[in-house]
Amino acid sequence: MAPSRLMVDELMAGTHPVMLGPHALRALERWLVRDARNARCFVLGDENTLVQCLPELLAHVPSLREAETIQVRSGERTKDLDVCRALWAHLSERGADRGAVLVALGGGVITDLGGFVAATYKRGIRCVNVPTTLMGMVDAAIGGKTAIDLGGIKNLVGVFADPAGVHVHPPFLRSLGKRELLSGVAEMIKHGLVRDAAHWNELRRAPLHDLEALTPLIVRSAAIKAEVVTEDPREQGPRKLLNFGHTIGHALEALALESAQRSLLHGEAVAIGMIAETWLSWRLGLLDRDRMNAVQEHLLGLFPAYTMQPADHHRVIELMRHDKKNVADGFRFTLLTGIGSAQVDVPVTAAQTAEALDHYRLLIRDAQQHHHPQA
Ligand SMILES: NC(=O)c1ccc[n+]([C@@H]2O[C@H](COP(=O)([O-])OP(=O)(O)OC[C@H]3O[C@@H](n4cnc5c(N)ncnc54)[C@H](O)[C@@H]3O)[C@@H](O)[C@H]2O)c1
Ligand SMILES: [Zn+2]
Repeated sequence: MAPSRLMVDELMAGTHPVMLGPHALRALERWLVRDARNARCFVLGDENTLVQCLPELLAHVPSLREAETIQVRSGERTKDLDVCRALWAHLSERGADRGAVLVALGGGVITDLGGFVAATYKRGIRCVNVPTTLMGMVDAAIGGKTAIDLGGIKNLVGVFADPAGVHVHPPFLRSLGKRELLSGVAEMIKHGLVRDAAHWNELRRAPLHDLEALTPLIVRSAAIKAEVVTEDPREQGPRKLLNFGHTIGHALEALALESAQRSLLHGEAVAIGMIAETWLSWRLGLLDRDRMNAVQEHLLGLFPAYTMQPADHHRVIELMRHDKKNVADGFRFTLLTGIGSAQVDVPVTAAQTAEALDHYRLLIRDAQQHHHPQA
């Protein structure tokens, strides 16, 4: 691996900085001392991040020891308007003025929610993102998209609002569960597939449980996200590359939210989305069969199968119609044209989408029969 990759510790994503690695938290301390000296600081987290990560944050960032902590419940359902209302009211009651700083300490739920609350409170106070999940470190905390869900639709209400900074400290991942870690790996794989074949290959071979081996890959993945955001901060063109796997993935995530028993993490939904959308890439003549098989095989091997009924397919397509990325006359997908390259805005019909979901259903059925020949 090129040594330059390991040494990168500050990047720009559009107009905001991303600090990575051993100096990331020290950089936050420096910023607080220099640019937020008299600011009221609030640290937003959930019951896991405030227990697992806050002590380490305070050890590295003494300026935050006086900050007030605000705890919300973990989980996607916290990206909710009632939670925002409570947070706005809380900030107001505690006398937060426009100079205040909100530090979002957590995964994508906390940075999406915290970023949105900060961007809208008094027309915008500064928000600093300190991601604690792999998903957050390589994707959610970077790039200034903030949002909450409404009426079962993911990210329906939100704004583009750049954080004051993003501080990526990989040791926070030590307490993260395996399933959550893998969810973040899905976005890293996405970054490789749409942009960087070498990254895809490294990820295929990487020992994912080994934090030390994973760290340079985290840096590379965050850098890909930052590069794409810099090219197109407001998602008018190239940034749509990052939507690969998400057109179907978001609808699957919304479907799972509707049912109490069947949970699906964001990255798990994106992984299924990538399998179905890789098939669409092949079906529309953009990707050859061998590459399609390689992508599918790797993703099927890493992520748990998700069983759907034909009625679910119908609902997925209905949910896709609500997605803000789609236009009135049909769906627009980001599809692969190779390993490491993709094309945005490819028109796809509802019938082709249904075929892709069916393809996924058959793939996991075959895989299960293969593993349990008696069943
Ligand atoms: N804004 C964007 O560009 C963007 C990009 C990707 C994803 N997202 C959003 O991010 C969300 C998913 O984020 P996520 O996967 O980080 O989920 P999450 O924020 O729900 O965190 C996952 C779980 O891990 C726990 N946790 C977090 N850090 C921990 C740690 N260090 N140790 C132990 N437990 C820890 C959390 O409490 C939670 O239970 C989705 O809502 C998705 O839409 C946004
Ligand atoms: Zn995503």
